[in-house]
Amino acid sequence: MKTIVTGGAGFIGGNFMHFVVNAYPDEEWICLDSLTYAGNLETLAPLEGKKNYRFIKGDITDRAFIFDLFAKEKPDVVINFAAESHVDRSLKDPEIFLKTNVLGTVCLMDACREYGIKRYHQVSTDEVYGDLPLERTDLFFTEDTPIKTSSPYSSSKGSADLFVLAYHRTFGLPVTISRCSNNYGPYHFPEKLIPLVISRALNNESIPVYGKGENVRDWLYVTDHCKAIDLIVRKGRVGEVYNVGGHNERTNLEVVKTILRALDKPESLIHYVTDRPGHDMRYAIDPTKLETELGWKPEYTFDTGIPVTIQWYLDHKDWWEHIISGEYQDYYKKQYGE
Ligand code: NAD
Ligand code: DAU
Repeated sequence: MKTIVTGGAGFIGGNFMHFVVNAYPDEEWICLDSLTYAGNLETLAPLEGKKNYRFIKGDITDRAFIFDLFAKEKPDVVINFAAESHVDRSLKDPEIFLKTNVLGTVCLMDACREYGIKRYHQVSTDEVYGDLPLERTDLFFTEDTPIKTSSPYSSSKGSADLFVLAYHRTFGLPVTISRCSNNYGPYHFPEKLIPLVISRALNNESIPVYGKGENVRDWLYVTDHCKAIDLIVRKGRVGEVYNVGGHNERTNLEVVKTILRALDKPESLIHYVTDRPGHDMRYAIDPTKLETELGWKPEYTFDTGIPVTIQWYLDHKDWWEHIISGEYQDYYKKQYGE
């Protein structure tokens, strides 16, 4: 069994590579990644030298390269994590989101059709469902919730999902889609809320909170997401969408305060900044289908996953200090005007 994992040098893809390369020593795992600002070979360094693992640098939108690669490697399975993933960046430069997230997905699926594939899995997001009102805590996203996107990022992910489902219906491509809530854990790029708060708090720097900090996200520890994807690829029904989430809703302010408390840092570090335009209010996943059909159960809650995550950042300062010392400083100044 040979699997190509795209975007495996990023946050979730990297955690997925660590999990599968160790869990399935008799299967062949190829990480394909173009190493954008979010891709980091240091994330994959612990896998170097493993017999069942290879890294290939390449762009999922480069059709000639992708078709050559598929002709040579003839993968059985493709799992597509590769994407532009940050909502704030999509507000500043939407086009690269269209290119990578939509055209990249179509290019990969065309190669899958050409060379035959047992399974194409699309790693998608709960953001394709839009948002829920804060006061309606009885409402959750199910797989039947209509796609109704807010940002260029979520629009590109929703468009890609529609192409994936169309390729199944029209061309019979054996696809599955997972739509997960917000992840957190090791190797998370410090542009996203949780690693941004941890890294800045450790440096006694201000913590930017958008608007009033009342928006709600449904947080899942990254390895629980990785295990869900593995289960869906192996046992999920072709043509189906599976929601992934563990019922861990928190307001952004709760998240920030929890981290500051754990690090023994003052709440005076919190700095309210201009809200994100089009900011989704609340995400909340109903994972019943994944639980009942495939028996998935998350190992972590928010309360058990956050201390493990904080400890990882304390133990791996070299990993994130390296990132925030480079062009990240320019990004931060442009984004937050500091
Ligand atoms: P990330 O930004 O950390 O990593 C993305 C990876 O894709 C990077 O390694 C990057 O180099 C690579 N990449 C980008 N463009 C590429 C291209 N053209 N060709 C090849 N590689 C390319 O993202 P992440 O947070 O790990 O998210 C992974 C996937 O999971 C994305 O599809 C995202 O939409 C989805 N997702 C993320 C979350 C979350 O909370 N982070 C939740 C649900 C779904
Ligand atoms: O729901 C899944 C999605 O979660 C994924 O599809 C995306 O790839 C991933 O980036 C994430 O999107 P969010 O926009 O929810 O994550 P982010 O970490 O950027 O922001 C989380 C919340 O925190 C959101 O309400 C915005 C807020 N926020 C974020 C940053 C970076 C702040 O208040 N201040 C900040 O500086």
